[in-house]
Amino acid sequence: MKPAAVIVLAAGEGTRMKSSTPKVMHTLGGRSLVGHALAAARGTDPERVIVVVGSGRELVTAHLGEIDAAAVPVVQEPRNGTGHAVRIALTEAAPDVTGTVLVVCGDVPLLRTETLQALLDHHAAEGNAATVLTAIVPDPTGYGRMVRDDSGAVTAIVEHRDATDAQRAIAEINSGIYAFDGALLRDALGRLRTDNSQGEEYLTDTLEILRTDGHRVGALPAEDFNEIHGINDRVQLAHLRRLLNDRVCEHWMRAGVTIVDPATTWIDVEVTLAPDVTLAPNTQLHGRTRIAAGAVVGPNTTLTDVEVGEDAKVLATHATDVEIGPGVSTGPFTFLRPGTTLAARSKVGAFCEVKNSNLGIGSKIPHLSYVGDGDIGDGTNIGAATIFVNYDGQTKSRTKVGDHAFVGCDTMLVAPVTVNDGAYVAAGSVITSDVPPGAMAVARGKQRNVEGWVERKRPDSKSAKAAAAAREAREQNGS
Ligand code: UD1
Ligand code: CA
Repeated sequence: MKPAAVIVLAAGEGTRMKSSTPKVMHTLGGRSLVGHALAAARGTDPERVIVVVGSGRELVTAHLGEIDAAAVPVVQEPRNGTGHAVRIALTEAAPDVTGTVLVVCGDVPLLRTETLQALLDHHAAEGNAATVLTAIVPDPTGYGRMVRDDSGAVTAIVEHRDATDAQRAIAEINSGIYAFDGALLRDALGRLRTDNSQGEEYLTDTLEILRTDGHRVGALPAEDFNEIHGINDRVQLAHLRRLLNDRVCEHWMRAGVTIVDPATTWIDVEVTLAPDVTLAPNTQLHGRTRIAAGAVVGPNTTLTDVEVGEDAKVLATHATDVEIGPGVSTGPFTFLRPGTTLAARSKVGAFCEVKNSNLGIGSKIPHLSYVGDGDIGDGTNIGAATIFVNYDGQTKSRTKVGDHAFVGCDTMLVAPVTVNDGAYVAAGSVITSDVPPGAMAVARGKQRNVEGWVERKRPDSKSAKAAAAAREAREQNGS
């Protein structure tokens, strides 16, 4: 069954985060807390989604625009409780809604669509006016307790602060996630009172109102308590981040990915991995990174929005917004920056940085180089310690190196400049003008040997003695 509306409660202050970032914008698994709530809710295919915002509402509203533009923000000001929040959401954004209304909290990131769907199905099957997602927990302190009568039927939810000692002993807690009949909910919200310890409109009080009116209210215990765990501080955030990551790693291992050390492998929820990918320890995969079959990534690698082709080897590499082709080899100690494309079977080796550049099929930048704003053809070798001099202090320019070119070690290619197909550049050159196809460019001082300099200027040194011995040996050999 589809809900007519989902209301996400996200107006709370999040004081215990001690942060200038609104609580629901803190992230785990590459997604904000409210982003997780929206993703789980969207999975139930609701007709509309309303997000109640309050604390930090400018930032939260802008964030919603980026992640889910169809979600309707409703401002709750002042914040007078969960019942008040839902009442405002219905009044302002769904005054006509009559179907099922799902209420979820914006700070429960492990909640899955499957669990929301089970709640909706149970709610429909039982013909309830309200159904609460609950959990049996080892320590219920702070939560609302589920009060049931002798027959086991739910009669009320009592907040921890308002509960008697006997009620505080109840281990079944309210997760703060509910399915309601929209019309009955609206009616009950209009009758909420504020005679409780916080002087707020409690959404939970609608249960007793609905039951007293003769409607059915029910509860569905969640299978896994962690799924309904909320976040109030950064300790809980770290705990749930770990649990979420365990879930994501387990998913990919069951899908055929080898993860050598799940404890040091962090995978964002939107990453996709093919079967027979291997992830070595201390690997972090962020954003929309995609890795094809047979690729080996890590150890010590961080990829953000990177596409890795089949059978590539990406070792100790830090890359953002890069395409790594099939059979490519990178690392160790390689920095790949946005706009870089490495074609099939190319290589970027140790201590190289590549930015906004294209490397052709089978081409190599094996050691100690900086390639910025470059276009390199196929089958080309860039010698060790080559620098693409792309910045003159004011503008950045591009450098082109053609197919099957050979750039000798320790070369400066001063952009804009082109080394054409099949050209060679001598080691140690500073190239400032184009090199024609097949030419060999030498742009360095000519070598001059000052004979006898060491023995004159460094007499009696070890070098002078070594030189004298070598000269004598040569003279004896007659050479
Ligand atoms: C609420 C429930 C409690 C349940 C617990 C689960 C009530 C009265 N109590 O308690 O039974 O066990 O959640 O976590 O509902 N919010 C608003 N506007 C407000 C107040 C809250 O949007 O005026 C939002 C918060 O941002 C949060 C959610 O509603 O996402 C729950 O609020 P919170 O203050 O954490 O509820 P609790 O008092 O802990
Ligand atoms: Ca509260």
